[in-house]
Amino acid sequence: MAEIDPDRPHPARIYDYLLGGACNFEPDRAFAEQFLRVMPSAADAARLNRAFLRRAVRYCVDNGVTQFLDLGSGIPTVGNVHETAPEARVLYVDNDPIAIAHSEIELAGVTNARAVLGDLREPDAVLAAAAEVLDFDRPIGLLMLAVLHFVAEPEEPLRRYTEAVVPGSFVAITHGTADEAPDKREDVLRLYASSGSPAHPRTRAGVGALVAGLEVVDPGVVWTSQWRPDTPAAADPAAALTYAVVARKP
Ligand SMILES: C[S@@+](CC[C@H](N)C(=O)[O-])C[C@H]1O[C@@H](n2cnc3c(N)ncnc32)[C@H](O)[C@@H]1O
Repeated sequence: MAEIDPDRPHPARIYDYLLGGACNFEPDRAFAEQFLRVMPSAADAARLNRAFLRRAVRYCVDNGVTQFLDLGSGIPTVGNVHETAPEARVLYVDNDPIAIAHSEIELAGVTNARAVLGDLREPDAVLAAAAEVLDFDRPIGLLMLAVLHFVAEPEEPLRRYTEAVVPGSFVAITHGTADEAPDKREDVLRLYASSGSPAHPRTRAGVGALVAGLEVVDPGVVWTSQWRPDTPAAADPAAALTYAVVARKP
């Protein structure tokens, strides 16, 4: 399990900085500024990712989901799952103790949402914790936003999570890619490797393969800003830097 190391940039706190949050340290800010030099749309991409989270959660609720398992949930920021779906039961899971500590503060007094420290690569432990909060006999929205690109081999954990939920459940994923800027791929990989959190960008087809066997909801695997947008279309969809997909368990 990750430990708090304020001297080393961490994905949760880098992302928090990109979103304009205050839960970050100097190495996180320095990393984020370096990342912005390579990928100038990274802050926009983080905001587009949060906007997708809200749309995907609403879509799941509109389609009968009343519970969410948010894996790699991050440091709480505007539009958390329990705020977008106030009636739903929610379990937030992250392997960063700072993200969980802030989630616990955010959730003080909230009865239907909890946060636990956990690593999504350990489905046994995560599913055991989830079973204490969620009812696995009813549909669950599995959220894995901007996290699987930190996981080298997500296929087996994904299989375990989708196997554990009933038909009518949904999986929502956003995932970093180098499709839009293959020339920057090596710079980004080097940067993340230097932080101790290696990145694993995937192609559009690679992201689609993560939901193989599930019914992919229209419009399929698209740039995150293009997934059922509720605002005018972005001028440059690839500025999202991530693909989004939502799929239903048949
Ligand atoms: C970029 S943030 C995304 C946060 C949130 N899901 C969102 O999209 O707004 C990635 C989060 O994934 C967490 N994370 C990375 N690897 C993880 C793992 N193996 N298990 C659980 N959480 C992980 C990080 O700590 C971080 O909080």
